[in-house]
Amino acid sequence: MNVTVTGAGGQIGYSLLFRIASGDLLGPTVPVNLTLMEIPSGRAAAEGTALELQDCAFPLLRSVTVTEDPVRAFDGVNIALLVGSRPRAVGMERVALLESNGRIFGPVGAALNAGAASDVRVLVVGNPVNTNALVTSAFAPDIPADRFTAMTRLDHNRGIAQLASRLQVHVAELDGLTIWGNHSASQYPDVFHATAGGCPVSELVAQDWLVDDFIPRVANRGYEIIQARGGSSAASAASAAIDHVYDWVNGTGERWTSAGVSSDGSYGVPEGLVCSFPVRAVDGRWQIVPDLAINAFSRARIDASVAELIEEREAVRALGLLPSLR
Ligand code: LMR
Repeated sequence: MNVTVTGAGGQIGYSLLFRIASGDLLGPTVPVNLTLMEIPSGRAAAEGTALELQDCAFPLLRSVTVTEDPVRAFDGVNIALLVGSRPRAVGMERVALLESNGRIFGPVGAALNAGAASDVRVLVVGNPVNTNALVTSAFAPDIPADRFTAMTRLDHNRGIAQLASRLQVHVAELDGLTIWGNHSASQYPDVFHATAGGCPVSELVAQDWLVDDFIPRVANRGYEIIQARGGSSAASAASAAIDHVYDWVNGTGERWTSAGVSSDGSYGVPEGLVCSFPVRAVDGRWQIVPDLAINAFSRARIDASVAELIEEREAVRALGLLPSLR
């Protein structure tokens, strides 16, 4: 399998690449050709990482290529992990952030459209993930929209970890949590379909705890990590990316998880918007979990996050960054 990582010289890349090469992404029997894409300022770091990858003598790692050229990076790619993005600088306007990222993800989409393998799967990890995925897809009109996904698995994993700690259960006993909406502070971690060891979580926790602790803690965890370590989450983001792709390729069974996928209109989310939903992976495709009852508490919070996604879409549309919006 040909796997390309953009922003490969950064901290997430450093946590991600060795796990891909050791077989965690696709399984212990799948050989991998890795391409590390970087911009000129990150190239030296990517070259250094490539040397270390070689030194690990991973049996599954067949080749490592470092490039700044998107056409070369995405030629024949099966799995594209789009990590490189322009982070928000202090005082930066949201529209400026969307614009500079649009200028990064547009050419990536065009290069994917030109050269990717017919089974390509794309995961956007670089913020703002949902709208970056939308822009990438809009520049790749020949690739089905369901191949472009945005990472909310990190939020999902954070929510599972918080619930496990609160309820004193093992993480594996929890199922049915959903992250809805945008990978931003407006996201909504929904426990109303979640179970812990088969018991409904909503019967085990008080609504006050949800409102005052759980929801803001999960939604603002990225900021909490930045404050604590002086930089964005890196190893946990890489781990979530591994989880997302592994499940997408290998299936989730009956359990569900969360991912930003192109909306089919489910749950009142406008079609084509890249929004986080409850999903299962079946036969190599994400499927939105259907027919969940949504209570008024959840509805208001889902709508608020979807409204933010619509605003982002309109902002990039006004910038001319959605040439073939489907
Ligand atoms: C995270 O959720 O940890 C990151 O998306 C936060 C950030 O702004 O980098």
